[in-house]
Amino acid sequence: MKHERKQKSSLKNSASGAKTAYRHFGLRNDPFTTLSLQGHELDYFVGRSALIDRLLSAMFSVSNIGVAGEPGVGKSSLLQLLESRVPRDFYSVSIGVPLDDASYFLSELLREMLVSIPPVPGLNFKEIGRRLEKEGPTKNAVFSIIRSITSRLKKPLLVFVDDLEKIKGDRVQHLTRSERTLQLLEELKSMLELPNVGFIIALQEEFYSKVSQVVKEGAEPTVLGLFKHVVLVEKLNPMQLKEVLQVRLERAGFKGDWEEFLEPEALTLALSLASGNPRRFLYLLSEGMYRGFQRKGKRVEYQDLFEAVNEHLKLDLVCKKLLYFLAKSGRAVASNSDLQAFMGLDMISISRRLEILSKNHLAEMVDVADGAKVYALPGTREIITGTKSRPLAPMTHTTMGEKIYTLLGGEEP
Ligand SMILES: Nc1ncnc2c1ncn2[C@@H]1O[C@H](COP(=O)(O)OP(=O)(O)OP(=O)(O)O)[C@@H](O)[C@H]1O
Ligand SMILES: [Mg+2]
Repeated sequence: MKHERKQKSSLKNSASGAKTAYRHFGLRNDPFTTLSLQGHELDYFVGRSALIDRLLSAMFSVSNIGVAGEPGVGKSSLLQLLESRVPRDFYSVSIGVPLDDASYFLSELLREMLVSIPPVPGLNFKEIGRRLEKEGPTKNAVFSIIRSITSRLKKPLLVFVDDLEKIKGDRVQHLTRSERTLQLLEELKSMLELPNVGFIIALQEEFYSKVSQVVKEGAEPTVLGLFKHVVLVEKLNPMQLKEVLQVRLERAGFKGDWEEFLEPEALTLALSLASGNPRRFLYLLSEGMYRGFQRKGKRVEYQDLFEAVNEHLKLDLVCKKLLYFLAKSGRAVASNSDLQAFMGLDMISISRRLEILSKNHLAEMVDVADGAKVYALPGTREIITGTKSRPLAPMTHTTMGEKIYTLLGGEEP
């Protein structure tokens, strides 16, 4: 059974508010929902083609695959994409597992198999379904039914399992989430060993390093040894995130260039704060769009993104201006007289603000030049590299920006 699609909570006060917001910008649907991509939206999927090829060939050899990655990086969307590529000579089923319980898991799997797989000779699916609902057979009984079905299948079966991720820790036994997940997988060991069945399972990020460790040390063969492949779903790079934005805008019916929708400095800020996580990126854009709409702006601007970020931080206007400067120019050094003139403040006040920004993870010190600390937006090095062909801070935009940028330009990567 597909698990319910949950919209991330948002500062937008109502669904109708969000609707008015995207309509205000001439869009026919909300481009920034943070739901994982489903069947009809899979053409929104950006990047990862090498990973997809690798995973497809692993799938076709009916191996168990763990797909690990941080929350929001795109594991569920990737699983959906892989499932959509399963060729006709395989069966596939997909289950979501919000409950961390092995017998529930097995019943869900059986239930899904009964509806997705054509009947096999010698087994009465209707009768099995009836028993499953009425009698609530034991875990072992359910497993042996699954085994007898899979042993008679004409084609291999691929099982997509999402949301093991959401398993909670166990306070009573002092188990962390990942220990609890391991425990569950351990209980499902015989299922993972079924011949002719490949499992593709979304896992927490830490399983990736765990497995690499086990493989390296030849340590105790945990249940993770049953996964022939455990891959890490990496963050998206800034160019890919920008492509996510462009694809979404286009599909929402936006006709113009992305810059007519979003001020470049707002994009820079969103890219920096998302640090490669597509859900965080979409969430920031969504919040920014809502504020742009409330302001009745023509496009979503830096100030809208800033307000969204600043909702809880309550930073002052000086910080806001300084952050804008960073988004525009790439670098800031408090001792720079042009920056002081732009801000109308002395070096000490600017240093203090730069420190406040970095305490709040809105800036980071990236260098020391001539004894002075050089600040940039978090992760900016990547952003600047990623958009080398088209600098984010064109010299012609502000004279202040121009001078500072030139000052530090020599050390750009
Ligand atoms: N490669 C991609 N291209 C376009 N959009 C993506 C991509 N990867 C993820 N997204 C978007 O990012 C958001 C989060 O993706 P998804 O739900 O798949 O992440 P997840 O890793 O499964 O998260 P969780 O750990 O919370 O289950 C979704 O809105 C999805 O549409
Ligand atoms: Mg997911």
